[in-house]
Amino acid sequence: MSMTYSCGILGLGSSLPEKVLTNYDLEKIVDTSDEWISKRTGISQRRVLDEDKPAYQLGVDAAKKALDDAGIEAEELDLIIVTTETPDYLTPSMSCIIQSKIGAQKAAAFDLNAACSGFIYGMTIANQFIKSGYYKHVLVVGCEGLSKIVDWKDRNTCVLFGDGAGAAVLGPVEEGYGIITTHIGADGVLGKNITMPCCYIGPEDIQVRSGDNKKVLWMDGSEVFKFAVRIMEQATNKVLEDSGLSMEDIKLIVPHQANIRIIEGAAKRLKVSEDKIFTNLHKYGNISSASIPLGLNEAYREKLISKGDNLVLVGFGGGLTWGSVLVRWSK
Ligand code: ACO
Repeated sequence: MSMTYSCGILGLGSSLPEKVLTNYDLEKIVDTSDEWISKRTGISQRRVLDEDKPAYQLGVDAAKKALDDAGIEAEELDLIIVTTETPDYLTPSMSCIIQSKIGAQKAAAFDLNAACSGFIYGMTIANQFIKSGYYKHVLVVGCEGLSKIVDWKDRNTCVLFGDGAGAAVLGPVEEGYGIITTHIGADGVLGKNITMPCCYIGPEDIQVRSGDNKKVLWMDGSEVFKFAVRIMEQATNKVLEDSGLSMEDIKLIVPHQANIRIIEGAAKRLKVSEDKIFTNLHKYGNISSASIPLGLNEAYREKLISKGDNLVLVGFGGGLTWGSVLVRWSK
């Protein structure tokens, strides 16, 4: 007889750089205004790393806090998944660097890039390993240094992003609690709408802009906006349906923090009041795969969630990708 386990979140942690970059600071760098950024995105400020600091340090800090919160030693970890689209090195991976810095000698480690949906992808994989009993403790870290890849001359993108990390330790929990269901998806045909070249720079059809394949992040904002509103609704409904729950059963939705108007648009389609949706993007901007664990950690520390509450985590972004998780809080 094969045994299956329920997988839940045992501990959470997050970390942010100290340096704050406000909309007013950005007015001095590009042709923009606090009024435009606030109105069009909801963002007031973001945290950014010093140029000479790697992003992995944020991941190490967030991971240590999550282990502490879980009451688990680093040596007890079986696997580390770091979700990132901004690894400091392609090799060693961010996950191997974090493994060495926290002393998790027994853990396997790999990086996962599903852009802003990365953390949901990471939780989905961790859930499979833990449910099957193959692994007991998996650390998932969303760790991003977007300030290192944005084009600080492009007002269309540089005002949107920030740096940070959020981490969760996943492991077995009481039956009926933890991850109830997960959903992940991708549409590579739409991938050309957010691009960031890496090892290949040259003429081909992925990049929308011709003759301008610089090593910077580029995005067709309005195309991504339309996709994001639609997919946030669909991915949220998918996990509700699969778990046989309705919106009334949900205590809090923690979405990827890209733009307040995306969240408002999706809330309207989902017919859910905005106070059921956690937001902190005014303080941090879009931190890609770190935004969901960071938001969840804030909601948890602010005591907005308690044992038995149903939560939906939902992400969307580059690839294009999306994903959602329905969790029954077990702590
Ligand atoms: N300051 C002032 N004006 C600006 C700025 C700025 N920072 N940025 C753009 N504008 C201008 C544009 O140049 C344009 O001017 P024009 O009409 O003279 O050409 C005008 O404002 C309107 O631009 P739009 O692109 O139509 O503005 P929109 O309302 O769509 O907002 C935004 C743009 C904020 C980018 C929005 O489309 C958005 O949030 N998109 C989704 C982004 C997202 O969710 N990304 C998630 C994934 S990211 C990842 O995976 C890394």
